[in-house]
Amino acid sequence: MAIDQHRYPPPTTSSIAHVGTYRRRMAVSLERMFENALDWEHLPHLHRSSFSTIECLDAGDWGWRARVRASAARGANASLIELRLDQDLHRWITRTLEGRGAGNEVWTHAFEFGPSEIEVVVDFFTPGVADENRERVGTGFIDLYQKLYDEDEWMMRLRQRRLEDAQRQLALASERLPVGSLAELVPTLPRCVDFNGRRLRLAEVNGEIHVFDTLCPHALGPLDTAPIVQGIVECPWHGHRFDIVTSRCVSRDKPGLSDGQLRLRPAPSVEIDHERTVWLVDERAAR
Ligand code: FES
Ligand SMILES: [Fe+2]
Repeated sequence: MAIDQHRYPPPTTSSIAHVGTYRRRMAVSLERMFENALDWEHLPHLHRSSFSTIECLDAGDWGWRARVRASAARGANASLIELRLDQDLHRWITRTLEGRGAGNEVWTHAFEFGPSEIEVVVDFFTPGVADENRERVGTGFIDLYQKLYDEDEWMMRLRQRRLEDAQRQLALASERLPVGSLAELVPTLPRCVDFNGRRLRLAEVNGEIHVFDTLCPHALGPLDTAPIVQGIVECPWHGHRFDIVTSRCVSRDKPGLSDGQLRLRPAPSVEIDHERTVWLVDERAAR
């Protein structure tokens, strides 16, 4: 789409001062970017250094409205935020409706340079800022958005790669994989093992070794370095928590999620032979 069709730059009014612009070129598709804009749930997890909580009041294809609290490092201030996405215009506008920063608007336009190449142009507007303070206020926004987009780009690129991987038929090369002697393995847990094209993670829970697939079933987030506490692994992207032993999602109610998104993906089983060697056994390969 040509740039002028995006109606860029955004309109300015005398009551809302334009304080700065942030631009970023990213190797991600527009689809991933729209998905990210609508994804309110990741704020206090992927962006945990910037946000501490979010309570969604309404959400849909149009955008979302939510009560958001900043992280302690950013003052823990609460605000009511609304994001409205216009896919035709490749644009979303985030407005602070109440609380800290009320009246702020952030206009983001996405420009496509190929199937997996976009540039976002983010304009910041703040009411009541004196001319001499605009640059300082704008720099604060730009620094924050630089960090947020570092985190978002990591998530979008990894998710894209994993979606592409999922479409390929991974060959089942072998049925069994030795992962070491029990005595040597246990002190190294939790640890990841690659087997038949999948990244699996072994962990000890209540004296037993369990294995799980490190692709989060919610949106393919990474569980390979996610914290494990008392047999529960927590995904860094949206904070869903899974019981490694039962594979079940144990976090708060997740309305709208399918059964498949509420269970860790099926993983090989763990066997210990008479010589105390630990094996992973992929039953799909045995068929
Ligand atoms: S990808 Fe959403 S919680 Fe894991
Ligand atoms: Fe984000």
